[in-house]
Amino acid sequence: MLLPLLLSLIVCAAASFTLPTRLVLQSPGGLFLENAAVRPNGKLLITSPFSSTLHMVDPTAANPTFDEVHTFPNVTLLGIAEVKPDVYGIVALVLNDTTVRAVPGTVAIWRIDLSSGGPPVVNKAAHIPDAMFLDGLGVVPGEPDLVLGADAAAGRIWQINLRTSVVRIAAQDDAFASGAPAPALGINGLHVRDGDLYFTNSQKKTFSRFSISLRGGNVAQAGPVEALGSVNATDQFDDFAFDPAGRVWAATDPDTLTVFFPSVQGNSRLRQLNAPGNPVEFNSPTSATFGRGGVAQQHTLYVTTQAGQLIAVDTTGIQV
Ligand SMILES: *[C@@H]1O[C@H](CO)[C@@H](O)[C@H](O)[C@H]1NC(C)=O
Ligand SMILES: *[C@@H]1O[C@H](CO)[C@@H](O)[C@H](O)[C@H]1NC(C)=O
Ligand SMILES: *[C@@H]1O[C@H](CO)[C@@H](O)[C@H](O)[C@H]1NC(C)=O
Repeated sequence: MLLPLLLSLIVCAAASFTLPTRLVLQSPGGLFLENAAVRPNGKLLITSPFSSTLHMVDPTAANPTFDEVHTFPNVTLLGIAEVKPDVYGIVALVLNDTTVRAVPGTVAIWRIDLSSGGPPVVNKAAHIPDAMFLDGLGVVPGEPDLVLGADAAAGRIWQINLRTSVVRIAAQDDAFASGAPAPALGINGLHVRDGDLYFTNSQKKTFSRFSISLRGGNVAQAGPVEALGSVNATDQFDDFAFDPAGRVWAATDPDTLTVFFPSVQGNSRLRQLNAPGNPVEFNSPTSATFGRGGVAQQHTLYVTTQAGQLIAVDTTGIQV
């Protein structure tokens, strides 16, 4: 009884904190950076909804460069996720940046395979004619052909099989909808962990989860949506990452990261990483991804921002 009480007191008392940050790269021309996936070799693949080109950055290089990996014809790029070692699903669409919706009929998922070490092998895996705006992309552990796409405009989760090209609606729930007209975004980031699907809803300012079932290679909602936390009126969540301990680090517009620890502190925000006082301030963060490689990389969180920053956060000092 005493321990949870003490913990909640600590949480209330220490609502914000600072961690060391480092600007890894500023994109040329301030190109908006949207989402990132870390390759097994530690390099980051980075998308932009204002570029047709998938870029790559070596965050450990002395002078990191913004290298071109592949250019997709006439589309721009959003969520990216690794389905099997060095193979990725990626959201491509034609963006209407007034409405922040896809031009109808343009949403597709491409598969990009970098595992050979040679030139990327790229193919259009599936076209999703009814998708309105696919944003975050997640994978399903144990299912190397599946991706789940968050439709932030339609308020639904699409399941796409990268091998068979079969597309279906995996889940639809009021908790995914924005509940407001365009350009408001609903479900944004989504990640599966230990049989639960965790997601953010930007407009509703919520971080939530529900349990999923997996039958015959199909994901379905298997329980009610449970709200785990929210942010205040000026903030909106974008994509997020789990650290090795199970904490959630959520990119939070306009200038911060929000940390949750669902397994310890079931409901409510754990802490907020404040921009002021850090050597690098987040300018509209969009996604967060942990590095790969040695222990230092596993504790380094790479954050992309709308202003084109790639920022490394050393999370080793997190207390709870
Ligand atoms: C890309 O758009 C241009 C101009 O609208 C068009 O001419 C071209 O055929 C398109 N290419 C593809 C691959 O869709
Ligand atoms: C974007 O949406 C606006 C508002 O619905 C519309 O007027 C405009 O034609 C759209 N642009 C494109 C390229 O579809
Ligand atoms: C709400 O968000 C603003 C902007 O990030 C921040 O300055 C403020 O401290 C937040 N308030 C609370 C109660 O978290």
